Amino acid sequence: MILLVTGGAGYIGSHTLIELYRAGHTAVVVDNLSNSNPESLRRVAKIIGVTEIPFYKTDIRDREGLEKVFSKHHPDACIHFAGLKAVGESVEKPWEYYENNISGTLVLVDVMRRHGCKNIIFSSSATVYGDPAEIPITEQCPKGQCTNPYGWTKSMLEQILTDIQKADPAWNVVLLRYFNPVGAHPGGTIGENPNGIPNNLMPYITQVAVGKHPELGIFGNDYPTPDGTGVRDYIHVVDLAAGHVSALQAIRRRCGLAVYNLGTGHGYSVLDIVNAFQRVNGVQIPYTIRPRRPGDIATCYSNPAKAQKELGWKARYGIDDMVRDSWNWQRHNPDGYPEE
Ligand code: NAD
Ligand code: UFG
Repeated sequence: MILLVTGGAGYIGSHTLIELYRAGHTAVVVDNLSNSNPESLRRVAKIIGVTEIPFYKTDIRDREGLEKVFSKHHPDACIHFAGLKAVGESVEKPWEYYENNISGTLVLVDVMRRHGCKNIIFSSSATVYGDPAEIPITEQCPKGQCTNPYGWTKSMLEQILTDIQKADPAWNVVLLRYFNPVGAHPGGTIGENPNGIPNNLMPYITQVAVGKHPELGIFGNDYPTPDGTGVRDYIHVVDLAAGHVSALQAIRRRCGLAVYNLGTGHGYSVLDIVNAFQRVNGVQIPYTIRPRRPGDIATCYSNPAKAQKELGWKARYGIDDMVRDSWNWQRHNPDGYPEE
């Protein structure tokens, strides 16, 4: 298939491009580079052995720009990663988040249908479950109250895409709810490249390891979990990327609307991650216990059985691979991608 990959220069998009090409697909990337660097695409091209990945520095809110890409490439389906994703920033800039993520997706979907491309895989998040009603979380678990505008954009976009599919059954909409993506391509040339101080646990740990911060702050050790720190379902980004290739099967069999959790089904605490990182990489991570972070929940991990049953997809990498590959990327690229 020919895939339009929005946000393809970003962390998950760049890893997904590799898996798509390996599976025999081709891709065209649209990204406004608001949170990424085109160097990622050059490195992806090198990994997969092509001269370049077709790339347009275009905003998904730019209807004319998207029209041109569709007229030239005629994609069969879109894998839609483009969006703003910083939870804290979304609380300070709700308008910017709703406008970018929701308006952008509305423009994209309109251009898609005008070009007869009615297949979309959407990057959703476990955040739509809010404080989950059941653990492990199945896709049947009711959606919950999000604690920030970023989360609401995911929840609302799921609803918008669901309604569009209901009104026009020619659409195939696959909602992928990611748990906590970490790790990097094992070659260490592409990885997560956060702007400023990382919000998420793994990039913070790797930046402590590389000496950019003196210590990790652990947000609370009084949760009702085995060691008191928050428990999450960390998933290697290469497994997550492969999940998108598997999700194309749902499109092929004309699924209509399909929802899948992409997680491993295992929960690890913050201290589990710190300990695994230290053990596997032989690097100490000093930390202090700080107050809980507002909006955090105690425990969040998936039941990924549906994706295995229907797509034949299962995460292959374990926690040791995740901490090894996260560190491998960071130590070889302490400042991320070079500034353009
Ligand atoms: P990322 O920021 O690395 O990638 C997103 C890409 O989208 C960036 O390259 C950015 O430049 C681009 N972009 C943003 N707004 C755009 C616009 N209006 N037009 C064109 N391009 C635009 O983030 P990521 O971690 O790779 O996440 C990819 C998707 O997965 C996002 O939608 C994110 O919300 C979702 N997701 C991420 C996580 C996570 O923890 N990383 C978890 C759940 C869901
Ligand atoms: N944590 C710390 N210190 C830090 C950062 C995080 O102790 O410096 C803790 C958090 O309190 C939490 C755990 O590490 O217990 C994981 O936190 P992250 O910020 O890495 O991830 P979240 O689970 O909060 O959220 C992430 C993404 C969301 C996405 C969600 C899906 O940020 O966008 O995973 O489950 F929706």
